[in-house]
Amino acid sequence: MSATSIQLDPQGRLLHFLTVEGLTRRHLTDILDTAESLRGVAERRVKKLPTLHGKTVVNLFFEASTRTRTTFELAAKRLSADVLNLNIATSSAVKGESLLDTLRNIEAMQCDMFVVRHEQSGAAEFMARHVKPHIAVLNAGDGRHAHPTQAMLDVFTIRRHKPDFPHLRVAIVGDILHSRVARSLIHALNILGAGEIRVVAPRTLLPTQVETLGARVFHDPGQGLRDVDVVVMLRLQKERMERALLPSEQEFFQRYGLTEERLALARPDVIVMHPGPINRGVEIDSRVADGPRSVILEQVTNGIAVRMAIMSITLGNHARPAGGTV
Ligand code: NCD
Repeated sequence: MSATSIQLDPQGRLLHFLTVEGLTRRHLTDILDTAESLRGVAERRVKKLPTLHGKTVVNLFFEASTRTRTTFELAAKRLSADVLNLNIATSSAVKGESLLDTLRNIEAMQCDMFVVRHEQSGAAEFMARHVKPHIAVLNAGDGRHAHPTQAMLDVFTIRRHKPDFPHLRVAIVGDILHSRVARSLIHALNILGAGEIRVVAPRTLLPTQVETLGARVFHDPGQGLRDVDVVVMLRLQKERMERALLPSEQEFFQRYGLTEERLALARPDVIVMHPGPINRGVEIDSRVADGPRSVILEQVTNGIAVRMAIMSITLGNHARPAGGTV
């Protein structure tokens, strides 16, 4: 059974959110439309909805994270859930407890949702296969494999600025090889029918056969950035590099860094995105990161509404009997 099939019930409804791959346009637009309707909650005097009142959400982060963990926490709290943050660096996993034992122990605390980040690809899927049926598992990033909620907040941000997907040209620039963000985003853009997806990177930072994911390969940003509507910059994931894949950070910036001059090759109304954390002067110049075309902080804000949407949809589907229409 694949990750795609394990995250859907027999009626095709989302029970877990493990990967974008294999989902339909309908699944994605449901999430985007729900997120759009939840966006306003942040502007209210009381920033809360009762949707997950009485539910317990556990943030299970085996890897460092700032934005993803805090926006998941805020999303759960804005839906009135109780939230438990487990920092695994200081927990039993470092004492040798297996993932399955950690899972069983947290399950024993009567939780309803696990948000999992793990350095190993497939960790969230593993959890989804082993949890009790009432529990929803959301993947907050597994190894190099997938980061589906990031992809959804990225396409949500793009759609708010540029809703005409069939004519959309997107360039994803930088360390594609180690990026779960790039993989998930390419899938999401393809499912939503984006006109053209480009990856722009040196050969050493591209996965083999990246074209089979549905992206055009460019090694020269001078060509890859020409006339694009969206530029997504990626960090060099040095923690995942087993050997030196680059001469130096300075050289990378010289050849691929997003400067104002390079950005001028794109369309005048281009938007600049980055999942964060940004490394100024390595993949992006400060003038661009803080400049008028940047939507990097909007992405962070949108992450809350998108995560609220995914939490309400998955837990909502758990509440429905299989085959029922309640
Ligand atoms: C990304 C991640 O962790 O995959 N960041 C994030 O979730 N905001 C990208 C990165 O670490 O470079």
